[in-house]
Amino acid sequence: MTVVSLFPTRVYAGRLQGSGVTTFNARMLRECAQYRADDVAGRAWSRDRYPGGYTSYGSLNRMHTLSPTFAQLERRLNRHVLAYARALEFDLDGRQLSMTDCWINMMPRGVTHGLHLHPLATISGTYYLRTPRGVPGLKLEDPRLDRYMAAPPRRAEAEQQPWVTLPVVAGTVLLFESWLRHEVPPNPVASERVSVSFNYNWF
Ligand SMILES: [Fe+2]
Repeated sequence: MTVVSLFPTRVYAGRLQGSGVTTFNARMLRECAQYRADDVAGRAWSRDRYPGGYTSYGSLNRMHTLSPTFAQLERRLNRHVLAYARALEFDLDGRQLSMTDCWINMMPRGVTHGLHLHPLATISGTYYLRTPRGVPGLKLEDPRLDRYMAAPPRRAEAEQQPWVTLPVVAGTVLLFESWLRHEVPPNPVASERVSVSFNYNWF
């Protein structure tokens, strides 16, 4: 008897760089706080769509073109994206995977980011800047969930579950294919969870 696993959903996790991450993250965090203070339109956008938190998704969503520090992040992310593309066995046919969007997410206590995917993108991901103990991870949904119909639930200890929450750690990057639905559950702790999310597209 043989049982094969078909159509795997691959998710990438890695440390952004070998050393110097504390200094780099401190600089990124200072910039994030400054942009939040300056970005009146973004704060207004967040009031309606990201209650209690701040995201620059609706205002400054190409941070890698605005800030040399975020441009540095882009350069460092590029090699992770290429490694992930290799793991996905993409045939890029000489075309480039390029960052199209990059935005700030700041989540104080109680802030949540509901289930969503990233349309018009190939690879998406998040780089974590601040992840105090107790902040939520990244919750990923099995992409086959809407076809399960009469499938029974799986045992509690089973490897295959309809949702998987990956822990998030400052200094690390998570990458996933942009069609994979995900969410950030409400932050239960007093400390702020801060990250930078981004999309890459295939040109
Ligand atoms: Fe997302």
